[in-house]
Amino acid sequence: MEHKFIQGATGHPVLILLHGTGGSMNDLIPAAEHLDSQASVLTIQGDVLENGMRRFFKRFPDASFDWDDLEVRGANLVSFIKNASHMYQFDLKDVVLVGYSNGANIAINLLLRDPRIFLRAILFHPMYPTDDIDRQDLTNVSIFASLGVKDPIVTVAQSEQVIKLFENQEAQVTPYWTTGHQLSYSEVEHARQWLKNS
Ligand code: MLT
Repeated sequence: MEHKFIQGATGHPVLILLHGTGGSMNDLIPAAEHLDSQASVLTIQGDVLENGMRRFFKRFPDASFDWDDLEVRGANLVSFIKNASHMYQFDLKDVVLVGYSNGANIAINLLLRDPRIFLRAILFHPMYPTDDIDRQDLTNVSIFASLGVKDPIVTVAQSEQVIKLFENQEAQVTPYWTTGHQLSYSEVEHARQWLKNS
């Protein structure tokens, strides 16, 4: 997958950046610098094209998720990150998944796939509209999630569904409510404080 790796300082996290629909691997780099200017960064570009807009998995014309495609691409993304950890010599336990919108949604798939691989995630405006999930023990998983009370893409009920999805499996969830779907300074700042204490 198209990507960029920026080596950071020892003892700091490895931020894996997953952009939103229509974005690119450069989008979240300023947010990553704010989250931890000494972190290593692996930023990845989605390889699905929807009317020319890059994404991480397919969806149908009514905007519902193509869950089969998400399963395949989620598995591929895990393999890609594992290979990258060998190539760039970082430890998976230092990884924090950082996703915005479509990138946050595939990050959820990664977290649910095997809760021993990824332990921390910052999810900006996620949605995961399904109840068809095998319950697992996510006790060691910590999530920061920013959600919008007037988000035009993710309803409040869908945002609450994401919180419950993780809480019902014993993950530690720190929700932060904002207004719309756009990534705001205040949510990146709250994510920074969460990361510092996580
Ligand atoms: C998605 O397809 O992942 C969500 O609808 C968010 C989006 O990309 O707009």
